[in-house]
Amino acid sequence: MTFKEEIKRRRTFGIVSHPDAGKTTLTEKFLLFGGAIHVAGAVKSNKIKKTATSDFMEIEKQRGISVATSVMGFEYNGYKVNILDTPGHQDFAEDTYRTLTAVDSVIIVIDAAKGVEAQTRKLMEVCRMRQTPVIVFVNKMDRPSRDPFEVLDEIEEELKIEVRPLSWPIGNGTDFKGVYNLFDKSLYLFTPNKQTLEEGLSLDVNDNQLSEEIGQTSADTLREELELVEGVYPEFDKNPYLEGKLAPVFFGSALNNFGVRELLHCFLEIAPPPRPSKAEERVVEPDEEKFSGFVFKIHANMDPNHRNRLAFVKICSGHFQRNTNYQHVRLGKQMKFSSPTAFMAEKKSIVEEAFPGDIIGIPDSGNFKIGDSLSEGASLNFKGLPSFSPELFRYIENADPMKSKQLAKGIDQLMDEGVAQLFVSQFNGRKIIGTVGALQFEVIQYRLLHEYGASCRYEPINLYKACWLEADDQAELQDFKKRKNQYMATDKFGRDVFLADSSYMLDMARENFKGIKFHFTSEF
Ligand code: G4P
Repeated sequence: MTFKEEIKRRRTFGIVSHPDAGKTTLTEKFLLFGGAIHVAGAVKSNKIKKTATSDFMEIEKQRGISVATSVMGFEYNGYKVNILDTPGHQDFAEDTYRTLTAVDSVIIVIDAAKGVEAQTRKLMEVCRMRQTPVIVFVNKMDRPSRDPFEVLDEIEEELKIEVRPLSWPIGNGTDFKGVYNLFDKSLYLFTPNKQTLEEGLSLDVNDNQLSEEIGQTSADTLREELELVEGVYPEFDKNPYLEGKLAPVFFGSALNNFGVRELLHCFLEIAPPPRPSKAEERVVEPDEEKFSGFVFKIHANMDPNHRNRLAFVKICSGHFQRNTNYQHVRLGKQMKFSSPTAFMAEKKSIVEEAFPGDIIGIPDSGNFKIGDSLSEGASLNFKGLPSFSPELFRYIENADPMKSKQLAKGIDQLMDEGVAQLFVSQFNGRKIIGTVGALQFEVIQYRLLHEYGASCRYEPINLYKACWLEADDQAELQDFKKRKNQYMATDKFGRDVFLADSSYMLDMARENFKGIKFHFTSEF
């Protein structure tokens, strides 16, 4: 196969959802199709058991298990599919945001009874920032569900994206009869608890056979609803989908393996192969000959007997080969990797080569930071790994004056891994840790002690958001910084950050400094 064909057949995507909507179940069904696993229940995904929500060591243990399923690759109908798993646990939302920077498209799973939920909304914001193409799968149609038109309206409103149904449900709950697939104009009939796959029945909706299959009343309703669908929604067009402006929507039931194959087939046909990647210097095309890639995730093993780190690299261009010298751009040094791993289903194995779209894991002893670029010579710094404003903040203080060096090193390395964010107050030089979830504070304290022999304590600080600043008029910015000196901090890249202590304070700042833009993410 030629290099270009290798790229064209790759589909690297993420499945995201609010916890419990069915992401794990759908992932598992995809893997079953790919023959990558053979029994349901084999995927120990990043899903963290509900019972473990307050015990962070237990959560870390489960995260350790799930490192192998962070990326699940498999072959299907000539395609190389790479599914990037994302932690469902809200405290690891930042991990999920970063993973989304490494995907070329996304499937969003929504619970048909609950509609759009909080986590889905946040994840969609990240997709929108990057114009990532999304497909929506409305799951659990075998349960009593909301009216499909209502669900579609909610998706449009809440996720701020146009929708186009490509399949349509016939009833729901105990009356769920199946779906009519508008993409291939076929009828798929549902039998509860039956996992075998029926072929779709190629059938025009106006064909009399429809009422024989699903009964007169359901046939009449389906025809009426489809007429409405065709009237309300524009014809499906691949381009707005690829631009991230329009989301095709499918209905089904992942648990019953219903509507999953159709979703997969349509996905493979319309979803983009590896897309160009933006570097600070220029846009990098996947089919460029020279290798380049970036680190989007670092996984540290907390087991003291196997204390190693794995850096996850997304390949942006060229042909990656084992034991070949590549440039670590930030460090300005050549490195070669003797045991890069690829992820096939839940197995990890050493690979000789990899192509754009693929994710490889590189064992790391501390050379990598999130966002680092690797290249075959060229000085490229990939963009698109923004920091997001944390939700929770605390001062971090040294609890053992003899270990201040260890503490500084530990904090530095944990921040490089992306466990949390560090801000240094420009007013008093104190260090502030910002996180998405309360759990990370415990993780940091534990790891500092066990890995670096350093103890820390936290002190409360009342903050609302971290804002990265943008201003055309530098004089106004300087004036702002002077006046708000108490609230100014520096992030780990040396950027100015305004730490607002309430939404009121932020509103006032916006009111008084009209020339300054306050962003909740570091890339705008
Ligand atoms: P998540 O990864 O998005 O958090 O969700 P997951 O797939 O684990 O699904 C959450 C629950 O919803 C699971 O039940 C799962 O079996 C169920 N589920 C998924 N898809 C469907 C569907 O199409 N129909 C119905 N009726 N249920 C579905 P659970 O009891 O919470 O977990 P488990 O003990 O079965 O694993």
